[in-house]
Amino acid sequence: MRVFITGGSGWIGSAVVPELLAAGHEVRGLARSDASAARLRSAGVEPVSGGLGDLEVLRTSAAEADAVIHLGYNHDFSDQAGAGRSERAALKTFGDALEGRDAALLFASGTAFIAPGQIATEDDLAPFSGPDAPRGGAEELAFGFVDRGIHPVALRFAPTVHGAGDHGFTAELVRVAREKGVAGYVGDGSNHWPAVHRGDAARLVVRALENAGAATVVHAIAEQGVPTRDIAEAIGAGLGVPAASIDPADVDAHFGWIGRIFALDLQASSALTQRRFDWEPTGPTLLEDLAAGSYFARAAA
Ligand SMILES: NC(=O)c1ccc[n+]([C@@H]2O[C@H](COP(=O)([O-])OP(=O)(O)OC[C@H]3O[C@@H](n4cnc5c(N)ncnc54)[C@H](OP(=O)(O)O)[C@@H]3O)[C@@H](O)[C@H]2O)c1
Repeated sequence: MRVFITGGSGWIGSAVVPELLAAGHEVRGLARSDASAARLRSAGVEPVSGGLGDLEVLRTSAAEADAVIHLGYNHDFSDQAGAGRSERAALKTFGDALEGRDAALLFASGTAFIAPGQIATEDDLAPFSGPDAPRGGAEELAFGFVDRGIHPVALRFAPTVHGAGDHGFTAELVRVAREKGVAGYVGDGSNHWPAVHRGDAARLVVRALENAGAATVVHAIAEQGVPTRDIAEAIGAGLGVPAASIDPADVDAHFGWIGRIFALDLQASSALTQRRFDWEPTGPTLLEDLAAGSYFARAAA
């Protein structure tokens, strides 16, 4: 397939690209800078110059492709509304470009916030919609494309797609623990975070590309829920600092923006995904990655 990818130079995308190429797909990727273009080129991807706001570039590139994998996202947590609007505009553009072509539109989403306090499954619809919703209400928008001859596929990643080089949520928890000299967990730390290793997530994206049905929710989840106290203790062991309970009233002050997310019970299942796509996660667990030192290079330097 001729695949157009956004975010191909990012954490997840740079693991997806080699899987796509190994499976024989031809890949073009959006690059917003010379550095990103060089990264893509060296990975075997033909770069297309432009940013997520360059809708004409997105439209033309999608029109020339057999499928789109949209992983690019502006992770500016101070402007989530702006990121949501940009996400919506990009998805609408891809929808227009792929209309009537029986083509797959895979787009990043997350399992967090789908069913807090319960075990989220692929059958759970995102409980939010509209431009002001998280991620601009991307799932509801894209699933509305089904009647237009498009196969939307929501790639719901675990809140931590972990591994050496990760700069996401787990890396932020490590940064806070290093700064505070304490690896905190909220309350008794019995709430959970699901997790997936980057390599497992990348293999799943390609399986989903090749096998997705009309409208599909994919759960990139290897571990349904790791107790957050265990995560904090592993971070503490890696940094050589104590793990400690943080009072829920002090979460914002201690953790900053990540605190409210670390306080949630975000369990999610991938039973349906594993069956549908014959996908079995084989990579290290989150605690294995932490024990292997994948997150502590700076401390050791
Ligand atoms: N990592 C996780 O644990 C996780 C969990 C749940 C959901 N997700 C979602 O999965 C997707 C991929 O995540 P990730 O961790 O791979 O993110 P990432 O490492 O931050 O990569 C983001 C990618 O988006 C590109 N990008 C950002 N703003 C752009 C813009 N304005 N124009 C063009 N490209 C732009 C970046 O390009 P540059 O290389 O040029 O910076 C990069 O390739 C995102 O939608 C994310 O929200 C990730």
